[in-house]
Amino acid sequence: MKVLVVGSGGREHALCWKIRQSPLVKTLYCAPGNPGISKHAECVDIKVSDIEGLLRFARAEEIGLTVVGPEFPLSLGIADRFAEEGLAVFGPTRAASEIETSKVFSKNLMRKYGIPTAFFSAFADFEEAVEWVKEVKPPLVIKADGLASGKGVFICRTETEAVEVLDDIMRRKIFGDSGDRVVIEEFLSGEEASFFAVTDGTNVLPLESCQDHKALLDGDQGPNTGGMGAYSPAPVITPELTQEIMRLIIIPTVKALKEEGREYKGVLYAGLMIEGGQARVLEYNCRFGDPETQPLMMRMNSDIVPVLSAVAGKGLSVEKVEWKDAASVCVVLASKGYPGDYKRGAPITGLDIVEGMENVVAFHSGTSAGNGGIVTDGGRVLGITALGGTIPEAINLAYQAVGKVNCDSLCYRTDIGKKALRHVLLTGPQGSLKNKES
Ligand code: AMP
Ligand code: GLY
Repeated sequence: MKVLVVGSGGREHALCWKIRQSPLVKTLYCAPGNPGISKHAECVDIKVSDIEGLLRFARAEEIGLTVVGPEFPLSLGIADRFAEEGLAVFGPTRAASEIETSKVFSKNLMRKYGIPTAFFSAFADFEEAVEWVKEVKPPLVIKADGLASGKGVFICRTETEAVEVLDDIMRRKIFGDSGDRVVIEEFLSGEEASFFAVTDGTNVLPLESCQDHKALLDGDQGPNTGGMGAYSPAPVITPELTQEIMRLIIIPTVKALKEEGREYKGVLYAGLMIEGGQARVLEYNCRFGDPETQPLMMRMNSDIVPVLSAVAGKGLSVEKVEWKDAASVCVVLASKGYPGDYKRGAPITGLDIVEGMENVVAFHSGTSAGNGGIVTDGGRVLGITALGGTIPEAINLAYQAVGKVNCDSLCYRTDIGKKALRHVLLTGPQGSLKNKES
């Protein structure tokens, strides 16, 4: 089979790395890909937003399966167009992907179907939003309705701050049309985790748990980013909680979308807040997480291609995914200055040493091939990912590998995975890190 992966980040590198291992795959393409991906796939110079270009390529090459990485092409309707042309595609339709692309839609869906989430109100009028802020009192969370490159969520601790944020989003339009409406919601405390399940619209298959590290700096300080590291499994999600998340959140969400005439096919990603053994939805995403996919792919034992193909084709017949009895940790190396301005083009050395290490993969996110070798070319640049028997072993190996990478322009968190250790201490040396099958 010929497979096309759409995207160019660490998530797509991890997907290509895993898909390449499948004996079912004869040729693997990635559009547009990156220098890391080019080791596993033939990179094709088509932008993720060029839906008709991707379609022409898929038709010409007789691609048997297209796997869409980022949300943007999904929001443009790539899955709809491929399906119209009879091409198998992994990823939801434009209408179903509104679960990520419109916070107002997803919050109303959760309210209508009784899916646990923070209490909220939605506003299209600035004055009404301000009045509500004065009534409910901070702390509260303000979210721009539409896509905002992960920057559209604000935790406001004072009324003044909240009004300023509303002004920025709704009057100054810092996110353009994405700020036509806002959601204002209750502030939730607890521990965050990422939960992924693949679905054909009816059958649902949970994947393993993960935890992302959204803040830039150690100890969850500093501004939010796309994710500075991740680990899997996330011990905060116990096997019992997994069942509850499936029963109360994932399955009802898939059913709700079907009932609304927006059947969801692909991977459903629920960003959860866990407190007192209960999960509530912070947000949904209509795609795999980045960097969560990097540790997930390293832990997956099963061939991923039959799962992706089944979702894109005849429906899920795969009953479970097998996982390595191991833990995985991904440390993101980001350009200094990210998530603000940063420079590009700084040379990176030492990647050959990392590539020679057992149980370590250097996934590329924002790199390009310069004259003398690999150079930085993005905010998040690399995701150094290691597999170990336990989370502490995986952390040690990941940071050993990070130490081999040389580049003046890169920075990283030094505490990725530490939150898991808290649970390890609470549950014994192996505790809930011992692996289970999904
Ligand atoms: P979202 O894009 O909705 O997941 O929000 C981005 C980040 O903002 C989340 O990962 C949380 O860290 C934080 N966040 C979002 N909603 C809430 C909430 N209701 N309470 C507390 N933190 C939140
Ligand atoms: N790691 C967060 C995201 O993929 O949205």
